[in-house]
Amino acid sequence: MTKTDVNLAVDIGGLTISNPIMPASGAFGKGMEEFLDFNLIGAVVPKSITKYPQKGNKNPRACETFGGMINSIGIQSDGIDKYLNHTVPYYQQYDVPLISSISAESVEEFEEMSEMIAGSPDVAALELNISCPNLENNGEAFGMDEDITYEVVHKVRQITDKPILVKLTPNVTNIQKIALAAERGGADSLVVANTLLAMAIDIHSQQPKVGNVMGGLSGPAIKPVIVRQIFQVREVSNLPIIGCGGIMNADDAIEMILAGATAVQVGTASFVNPSVMKDMIEGIRAYMEQYQYQTIYELVGKTMDRI
Ligand SMILES: Cc1cc2nc3c(=O)[nH]c(=O)nc-3n(C[C@H](O)[C@H](O)[C@H](O)COP(=O)(O)O)c2cc1C
Repeated sequence: MTKTDVNLAVDIGGLTISNPIMPASGAFGKGMEEFLDFNLIGAVVPKSITKYPQKGNKNPRACETFGGMINSIGIQSDGIDKYLNHTVPYYQQYDVPLISSISAESVEEFEEMSEMIAGSPDVAALELNISCPNLENNGEAFGMDEDITYEVVHKVRQITDKPILVKLTPNVTNIQKIALAAERGGADSLVVANTLLAMAIDIHSQQPKVGNVMGGLSGPAIKPVIVRQIFQVREVSNLPIIGCGGIMNADDAIEMILAGATAVQVGTASFVNPSVMKDMIEGIRAYMEQYQYQTIYELVGKTMDRI
């Protein structure tokens, strides 16, 4: 099979992207174009945006842990007006769809922001970040509650026909119930998932390693948890899943696709190597050539057939 026989394009709920690799919100932005041609990746996903400018949490905001990192950046944001006036126009120079990630403090704020962002013809899809650990609320997030998940998605669904991606939190007992609530609300795609609520302590200062005491664990340490959750969501929902959590190379991305993901997002790995997404695209192509697959769809959820 030659390179041209491999088709990496996938549909993630009404949005077709040229390949299944895209950045995870918060781990991508201006400055990376020095290392990565943005035109190569499936989509651009800038950091979550809030309605008003926000400074983020107190320092230190990140620490390394075994097989990963904990961050408590919070949503550092210049606010939605600057986002619409600067960030959205900036990405128009690239021939790649822009997915806007929205973080809000209430259902009404999700509605209001979605309306403003969906009004921009340059935004291809909305990603609802209902998964950020809300540290003021003992780490609880909108996405920990079925009813609130349904309500947020349902309300935003009334506002726009653009694809709605819902980014779930892994910090729940039963991710299937939350996934189904998002689907009932009208989600087009599910991002599985965000960071795992975590904590690390410096034994010399005897203080927490991040200023906010708790933060979100990301990186290779969380990958098996996320693979399990993708598999579980796939068992109950036919919505396209975007796997996210601990992908460091093409093999990790393929593993998530085999578990049931149609595409993946890459976060922590880009901090280690800002051009890693390019290597992942090439690695997936090489795997498909090696095993004679023509489309990603032949691989999606394939492990279910092997059990
Ligand atoms: C420094 C940092 C900032 C993040 N900011 C956001 C954010 O603004 N919005 C969001 O939905 N997720 C955010 N995340 C979570 C990532 O998008 C991703 O879900 C998580 O890191 C797991 O993927 P990874 O293991 O590949 O990093 C952030 C993660 C990190 C490490």
